Amino acid sequence: MCGIVGYIGKRNAQEVLIKGLRRLEYRGYDSAGVAILSDKVGKRPSRLQIEKRAGKLGILENILTQKPLAGNLGISHVRWATHGIPNTKNAHPHWCCANRIALVHNGIIENYEELKESLIKEGHKFRSQTDTEVLVHLVEKFYQANLEEAIRRALKLVRGAYAISVICKDEPDKLVGARCGSPLIAGTGEEEGFLASDIPALLDYTNEVTLLDEGEIAVLTPRGLEVQNLKKDILNKEKIKISWDAAQAEKEGFPHFMLKEIHEQPRAITNTLMGRISEDKEKVLLPELKSLEKFFASMEKIVIISCGTAWHAGLVGKYLIEEFARIPVEVDIASEFRYRNPILNDKTLVVAITQSGETADTLAGLHAAKNSGAKILSICNVLGSSIPRESDAVIYTHAGPEIAVASTKAYTCQLAVLYLFAFYLASLKNPSYFTKPHSLKDYLTNLENIPAKIEEFLNNKDNKKVIRQCTRRYHRSFGFLYLGRSLNFPTALEGALKIKEISYIHAEGYGAGEMKHGPIALINPHLPVVCIAPGDSVYEKMLSNIEEIKARKGIVISVATEGDKFISHHSNHVIYLPRINPVFSPFLTVVPLQLLAYYIAAKRGCDIDRPKNLAKSVTVE
Ligand code: AGP
Repeated sequence: MCGIVGYIGKRNAQEVLIKGLRRLEYRGYDSAGVAILSDKVGKRPSRLQIEKRAGKLGILENILTQKPLAGNLGISHVRWATHGIPNTKNAHPHWCCANRIALVHNGIIENYEELKESLIKEGHKFRSQTDTEVLVHLVEKFYQANLEEAIRRALKLVRGAYAISVICKDEPDKLVGARCGSPLIAGTGEEEGFLASDIPALLDYTNEVTLLDEGEIAVLTPRGLEVQNLKKDILNKEKIKISWDAAQAEKEGFPHFMLKEIHEQPRAITNTLMGRISEDKEKVLLPELKSLEKFFASMEKIVIISCGTAWHAGLVGKYLIEEFARIPVEVDIASEFRYRNPILNDKTLVVAITQSGETADTLAGLHAAKNSGAKILSICNVLGSSIPRESDAVIYTHAGPEIAVASTKAYTCQLAVLYLFAFYLASLKNPSYFTKPHSLKDYLTNLENIPAKIEEFLNNKDNKKVIRQCTRRYHRSFGFLYLGRSLNFPTALEGALKIKEISYIHAEGYGAGEMKHGPIALINPHLPVVCIAPGDSVYEKMLSNIEEIKARKGIVISVATEGDKFISHHSNHVIYLPRINPVFSPFLTVVPLQLLAYYIAAKRGCDIDRPKNLAKSVTVE
């Protein structure tokens, strides 16, 4: 996610802004910039001084050390690119035609293309490919010597998620911020004011902050903070005292990035779906696939290549695309695909799923596929990384930077893209699927509701109690077995990988139907077996597997749908999920498995965010 810092007061703005960005570096970024209003010298009016560079903060810092920007009002930004590749031109701040207003932004402007088109028609000149730049030209359009009023009018036209910080050279005593969908925090000191995306950036100056809520505008002057809503009401906001130190604040109070990222999944999935479902819920909007539309008409096969967690997402994708679009799908571990001389041709689509976009095996698989004439689509979380750059098209997840080595929010965002893609292909190749009882509108409405269902699960204290009970009882186990069927066979694999890679306990994920073909020999009173049994079409089959395990004195931890009393008679522990259409169960069933792995690893004192021997991105074979 991008990071914002704003300052107004008596200090040297450059120092506060850069120090604040340093505190936000952990969020991951690919460029950085500052805008500082120069001091008035004699008759010479204040002017906006802007420096920004692609790359790490140090590059910008070196430039500012050689050529410092004097002034006491400024904004700064570290950018995690979502629209427009990571380069200096696309870096923030962006400024208006008249060099009067500068702005930084965190989030996604869904309707930026239509806004940009009308602004260009009105004569505005754009310098970047970003969605953000639309905002500063909108503010300029409405500016009449009152910055917050211009911002209010501009934001009424905007759809999407944003947090912004804005300064104007004609109002040198004002720093304005606004939020809708992305966090923004205000702080005040002795005749000074601060804005930031996240608490760590302010902790060097104040530990009393005001959290802005949706649709609120903060106006900071050396005299203090005023918060208004979009209707111009002045709001009475309470200040909260932060007891965290800076390291804790980077994790927003969570003990580890992994736990923070598990809880970020509702927001990450919302951001990934944003702008990709039509307002009437009748259509999937994937303009990034426009260039492949003709190819899709003749496409005969899809091959998904990926590694680790991304491979598990690919397995879910297979079930979805074959069920909805009736297109044959192969799923291959990239390190096998690259050496097996696969059968591909110009009617094959190869889909590379990768969080980092830099995984060596997946990149090599892509190269192998390219020589065959196949088209390449990547699903990736890092804009401008190697694999998207070498693909014919890319659908980005908007999970934000995933810091923990163990992938969680990137996985569920990959699922979100795969559901969209399966529905998109079905609309093109198998539209009759969406007749009653379930129309595409039903599916897309359900999909949009998934973040709320995950939030509901995460807020349920009974579930956390069961997971902690299992942690206390089984954190010393020599192994775990994870069983699932159909769409939740990949979930079983993912659950086993999570606990393996962060707690170092051996675990195996299996298709439950395979029990009789071997794993049942493992069942004993010391082996916890996690059985994923939501109320879906294979529920009865899962129940039989559970009874087989209980008959052999095995330990069963079931993941089931709320209200299912029957399963509790056959399980040692049950973790209940909110009711949803079972076709979407992989979003929910994986979350308790992420938490179980996390709490067991924590109990075992493991280095959860940086597990031994593992790297976040495996850029070597
Ligand atoms: C997942 O928790 C692991 N960190 C690992 O399996 C990862 O999914 C795999 O290395 C693929 O990485 P990628 O998605 O960046 O290509």
